[in-house]
Amino acid sequence: MDWVALRSEFPVTRRWAFFDHAAVAPLSGPAQRAMTAWAVHMAENGDADLSQWECRVEDVRRLLGRLLNTDPLDVAFVKNTSEGIGFVAEGFPWNAGDNVVTAAEEYPSNIYPWMNLAGRGVEVRQVASRRNRIDIDDLRAALDNRTRIVSLSSVEFASGFRNDLDAIGSLCRERGIFFFVDAIQSLGVLPLDVSAAPVDFLSADGHKWLLGTEGAGVFYIRRDLVDRLHTTGVGWNSVVGCHDFSRIDFRLKPYAGRWESGTLNVAGIMALGASLELLFDIGIPVVTTRILELTDYLCEAARRAGVEVFSSRSPGDKSGIVSLRTPGDPRALVRKSKDQGIIVNQRAGRLRVSPHCYNTHEEIDRLIAMIKS
Ligand SMILES: Cc1ncc(COP(=O)(O)O)c(C=O)c1O
Repeated sequence: MDWVALRSEFPVTRRWAFFDHAAVAPLSGPAQRAMTAWAVHMAENGDADLSQWECRVEDVRRLLGRLLNTDPLDVAFVKNTSEGIGFVAEGFPWNAGDNVVTAAEEYPSNIYPWMNLAGRGVEVRQVASRRNRIDIDDLRAALDNRTRIVSLSSVEFASGFRNDLDAIGSLCRERGIFFFVDAIQSLGVLPLDVSAAPVDFLSADGHKWLLGTEGAGVFYIRRDLVDRLHTTGVGWNSVVGCHDFSRIDFRLKPYAGRWESGTLNVAGIMALGASLELLFDIGIPVVTTRILELTDYLCEAARRAGVEVFSSRSPGDKSGIVSLRTPGDPRALVRKSKDQGIIVNQRAGRLRVSPHCYNTHEEIDRLIAMIKS
């Protein structure tokens, strides 16, 4: 792979060494062009050729199906990760006394929707991390016969710890517990095959590793679970005969599409589709290898510079997110980096660095030199 040539597809590289894909990623060039083409066309034509965009939306659904290795009908477009978590939290057939198990270090979008069920008698159990890892034995110890759902991120947003979805999902399956994965911190760069991994529900917005925009993401639900949930947020587009506006026939679509209540964020989906095609052209396994290689390089350089790497870098644990313990206030370092053309972030009192496949070793050298200086 010619990584240098690829950089021409990333306008952000003209100005920044950008290491903040765990927050809001820059649009790829193809995504920018796809959104612009849509905007120009809509400005000049309105809905005269709407079917062309509707077809493209279905193409993007197929790309998402390919990404997750599932039938495209098993995915619904959502406005963000939280929306997908809410579909399950609000729609699940809870009984008072049930519990949900999640991790203490989860991003708030995977905690509040479950906490919001307190009025229905649902308890939220938050498993504490041991320093930089979530131990599967601690998760196991939190489960009991009233646990209905385990909900975890594929990769933890602050520490970068990669949960072992196969092992946790298998643990859930053995006990008849459903497994929800917030995949936003890995989707597009780490493989996730829902037909092989024991994942029941998944949600992720497209504006991080998928290099799309904010407001266009994906929700996955296992087909046989569709009728187990009460469908929240039903709209005209949730039903089988959704295009026949003059006939009321309330039969929900028998697949994920019932959660697409109405008109979609077509501009955002255009961007997502273009970035997905770019990632597929490179090859997701190639992207994975590259990101893990860059982050290994970053960790070694950091250690050599006397900076403590907080993230677990054991083979199964590592991800595209590297959390560093730097001296002083990380917020000051974030500002100083920006002054030098380097975009990083801070979370949990540590510096968070999240490179994508188009970043370079030279950019990492610049970052480490800046931290040292
Ligand atoms: C693990 C995780 N989940 C979800 C989100 C964002 O949620 P949403 O897509 O609902 O804005 C983030 C953003 O940083 C995140 O790190």
